[in-house]
Amino acid sequence: MAKKLHIRTYGCQMNVYDSERMAEALAGRGYEQTEDVGEADLVLLNTCHIREKAAEKVYSELGRLRELKAARPGMRIGVAGCVAQAEGEDILTRAPMVDLVLGPQSYHRLPELDRALATGARLVETDFPAEDKFDELPERRKATRGPTAFLTVQEGCDKFCAFCVVPYTRGAEVSRPAERVLAEARALVEAGVCELTLLGQNVNAYHGHPGGLAGLVRALAEIDGLLRIRYTTSHPNDMDDALIAAHGEVDKLMPYLHLPVQSGSDRVLKAMNRKHSAAEYLAVIERLREARPDILLTSDFITGFPGETEAEFEETMSLVRAVGYGAAFSFAYSPRPGTPAADRKGQVPREVSMDRLHRLQALIAEQQRAALEAMVGREVGVLFEKPGRLEGQMAGKSDHLHAVHVQAPASAIGELRRVRITEAGPNSLAGVLV
Ligand code: SAH
Ligand code: SF4
Ligand code: F3S
Repeated sequence: MAKKLHIRTYGCQMNVYDSERMAEALAGRGYEQTEDVGEADLVLLNTCHIREKAAEKVYSELGRLRELKAARPGMRIGVAGCVAQAEGEDILTRAPMVDLVLGPQSYHRLPELDRALATGARLVETDFPAEDKFDELPERRKATRGPTAFLTVQEGCDKFCAFCVVPYTRGAEVSRPAERVLAEARALVEAGVCELTLLGQNVNAYHGHPGGLAGLVRALAEIDGLLRIRYTTSHPNDMDDALIAAHGEVDKLMPYLHLPVQSGSDRVLKAMNRKHSAAEYLAVIERLREARPDILLTSDFITGFPGETEAEFEETMSLVRAVGYGAAFSFAYSPRPGTPAADRKGQVPREVSMDRLHRLQALIAEQQRAALEAMVGREVGVLFEKPGRLEGQMAGKSDHLHAVHVQAPASAIGELRRVRITEAGPNSLAGVLV
């Protein structure tokens, strides 16, 4: 009988991609995935360390798993992802029910580790191995897939923003060679995928193609059957001329870009070690909009970074007003162990960061509504992904990544169709097939 694997994924899209690859690696050991944790032989928590809340979630989850494991003695529990990398063997001490601690660069070792787990060993694997996990992992499964997929092309980060754990949990920047990426993309397209999201912690620092990320995007655009391409997450300093030009010239590149700025204050940006000013960021946006006038922009923001004054926070609000975002993620600063900002003077009281966060979120919500309303009357491409909530309705994402509901036949699923937007709701659009 097949062994059962239950994976829970937290954090960013890179973890979503990694979880798929882990499941594929374990399929070779006879594991089938299950949604029901109660019947699992192996439970993997693919964790996130970015903010304290994310990291602590893991321990409450482990607490719940303890009872399940007591009732099911053969069950093994593994902690993978960024908490595993950051905390290593401390996890085994703090959480005695854990059998395996596995850092993000070692997933290709899962089959052999699983063999060792069967003997009752408790294992920690958090070195950054010399070999590239992507070279060692088994080929992607040929199973039919939905119309959209993630594809990791770059990992790690050399930027060392003063607040961020990623350079420590994911290690140095590494790019996968373009031929590998192209081969994986072709296989995904053959399996039914027509939209690819290229992933990397610093995806636009990609250098696995002589033309950088722009070169890779242009090469991917040649694949028949691949209809839309986007990438995330980008750093403003790596938005080079070639990539900006690609936004104007490559039709398959979606008019959507997540370009985090974090703050609108030059003093705060400097303290964050972002290595660009607010004006430089705005200049990048202006050039992107020249290349692709309808591009929809999103960003990440942190409120209450150590030392942030009310006036500096207002500079963030001004920057948001100047840009006009389609959406944004914003977070109250969370001090992370081992990062330079964590023990700086001037930690901002929680209630102040939270108050700023709420004001920022209210402004962003207004802009999000305005961006949705601006779509009404326009014709956009919609890639249909699944049935909608209402009878006869299909749901998909527009070229600008808005959720769209349309009366359409079920055969529209997996197709990119032209849709005229007729109505804007708070979080989504409605439209009719053209
Ligand atoms: N590589 C991406 C994002 C990485 S993390 C980039 O460079 O933008 C995703 C977001 O989490 C960041 O953009 C930042 O806004 C937020 N974040 C990271 N560390 C944080 C911290 N210590 N406290 C609060 N938010 C944080
Ligand atoms: Fe973190 Fe900065 Fe690297 Fe993004 S660029 S992953 S925020 S260190
Ligand atoms: Fe979290 Fe690691 Fe991604 S810390 S945001 S899972 S890179």
